[in-house]
Amino acid sequence: MTVTSERLHNQLCQDLGAHVPIFGFTHSLDATIAISKAGGVGIWGATRSTPDEIEAGVTRMAAELGDLPYGLDLVIPPNMPERDNRPEIEAAIPDEHRQFVAGLRAKYGVPDDGEPGMRSRFVRSEDMARAQVDVVMDSQIKVLALGIGSPEWVIGPAKERGKTLVSLVGQPKHAERAIQAGADILVAQGTDAGAHTGPIGTFSLVPQIVDIGAANGIPVVAAGGVATGRHIAGALALGAVGVWVGTAWLFCAEEHLAPETQAKLLAAGSADAVISRADSGKTLRQIRTSWTDEWAAAEAPEPLKMPYQDILVGDLLGQIDRHRVKPLMHSPVGQSVAYFDEPTTVAEVMAHLVDDAEAALGRLDAIT
Ligand SMILES: Cc1cc2nc3c(=O)[nH]c(=O)nc-3n(C[C@H](O)[C@H](O)[C@H](O)COP(=O)(O)O)c2cc1C
Repeated sequence: MTVTSERLHNQLCQDLGAHVPIFGFTHSLDATIAISKAGGVGIWGATRSTPDEIEAGVTRMAAELGDLPYGLDLVIPPNMPERDNRPEIEAAIPDEHRQFVAGLRAKYGVPDDGEPGMRSRFVRSEDMARAQVDVVMDSQIKVLALGIGSPEWVIGPAKERGKTLVSLVGQPKHAERAIQAGADILVAQGTDAGAHTGPIGTFSLVPQIVDIGAANGIPVVAAGGVATGRHIAGALALGAVGVWVGTAWLFCAEEHLAPETQAKLLAAGSADAVISRADSGKTLRQIRTSWTDEWAAAEAPEPLKMPYQDILVGDLLGQIDRHRVKPLMHSPVGQSVAYFDEPTTVAEVMAHLVDDAEAALGRLDAIT
């Protein structure tokens, strides 16, 4: 069911063809499609997908969504290796780190099935990013979001093809850089957010980025901790023209999260969404589990940089999920985890966000 709201419908909605100014980020294609069908803008996180998978996903979105707005997100950090050369990466991993990971495998009985996980099925490299971007350039994708990095070799060709460029930023200096590179929309993502996140809280960050955006004629959307309509009303009051939501979809049937992991999220409060570099080498907010505790212990080594940490732990992480090794199963999640205590659906989340935002804005009208 599509949600509509005269109150929330604004220029951003008009520009993108959305009913409400709510972007929904998810790694699930089913959830992405459901978000766009519900009136928002579904953004498919495809950075861990191969070019062939991206092609298939984009074809499916085009077939199911037609003219509805939707997009795709890639993460292209600077200084990645040029080629996907796993032996080269493995040769640089210190013994201490290998032994620590082998110790975790033994302690928790994680079977080694010889298969990689999502983070180790390919090495994040410049070659791979270029192959992924090539598929996007040739596709009908209208919105391309960049989670980390704003390389000119992506932005130039994307703009030539009329794509809308969205850059996620966590600090004012990132916003300046993204605008210089050619971003059309900025997502100001505060530390409250799930997954890779910076040090500045959403409330502190959004007005700073809004000011930078305003000076350059670039609209800003707020991310990090948005889970209710009160947050949407707050984001609008801070000067944002919309919101970008990630954590909320993890509770939806369309996300297909493992039930063991979802149960941990349903039981969690905001303080259980902790930051660790253990998954990727970059600061990643996730549910606190034995995994984060083990890596935070005094005897644990410092996680390596991306992509070395990806390769160090990637196979193990895949095997933990495939063999359902419960104490170590986890997911990125933001501090808004506290707002969800039962499984839901994308349509329900969207309806609730919009109804609640209208109510919150109504209360503000009554005050002023
Ligand atoms: C499970 C999960 C995975 C994420 N993966 C990515 C990613 O691959 N690329 C990206 O740009 N952002 C990613 N994010 C961050 C979202 O784009 C978004 O900024 C964030 O979830 C917003 O804050 P919230 O989690 O409080 O709603 C992820 C978030 C979650 C919860």
